[in-house]
Amino acid sequence: MSIETADDLIGLKAIGAIVAQVLRRMRDAVRAGIRTSDLDDIARQELARLGAESSPRLVYQFPGETCISVNDEIVHGIPGQRVLRAGDLIKLDVTAQKDGYVADACVSVAVPPVSNETQRLIRCAERAFRKATKWARAGNRVRDIGAAVEQEVIRSGFRVVRELCGHGVGRTIHEAPEIPNYFDRNAITPLTKGLVITIEPIISAGMGRAFTASDGWTVRTYDQARSAHFEHTIVITENEPILLTA
Ligand code: MF3
Ligand code: CO
Ligand code: CO
Repeated sequence: MSIETADDLIGLKAIGAIVAQVLRRMRDAVRAGIRTSDLDDIARQELARLGAESSPRLVYQFPGETCISVNDEIVHGIPGQRVLRAGDLIKLDVTAQKDGYVADACVSVAVPPVSNETQRLIRCAERAFRKATKWARAGNRVRDIGAAVEQEVIRSGFRVVRELCGHGVGRTIHEAPEIPNYFDRNAITPLTKGLVITIEPIISAGMGRAFTASDGWTVRTYDQARSAHFEHTIVITENEPILLTA
């Protein structure tokens, strides 16, 4: 969506703050011995308390409130009986809606002690996000975001998972335009003031190829390499974007 009224911004900020709060609560609970379903239970309680609903569940009938993906699971992991162990790399991805507005954000967090490679992978996804935000302004194009992400990821010795992209958001979970995490010369859609999108570098320490597991949801790396993901919902302005989910 593109923001048209003051109420649009108020509604988006409200759901952005809720998504950020749910992610904080989940992240604080990450430790060895906890089940991914326990983290999803925290999200369910927190969403209910704040009067919001899970968009993956509502829109796609996803079997969970949030997507929780561990190690070589890249995205769309289903919360379940899996028990987190020391060294695991967990992606917590929360998309929620309230009063007709939607926000989407993801953090990568590891259970200590964390290997240097895993730490570097997580930091790279965050840095690629930050660098891309410098290009995410009115007057630039969608492909400028992907170029910035790709450059940072390659420079760090990692790969972009090209099948998975950012997207427009705000009224429903996945809207136009698609925001690739690599330079796509055809992605010339202009970034315009008020446009609401996600920037979400999804990267791997291996080849970056992905496949959907037999559960029909979980996307994993072919080579079992670890992957990291970092995402915020942002609003395009004439300067640096507004981070709705920070
Ligand atoms: N949060 C995911 C994203 O960043 C979308 C999850 S929807 C699902 O785009 F149904 F596929 F889980
Ligand atoms: Co997401
Ligand atoms: Co997203």
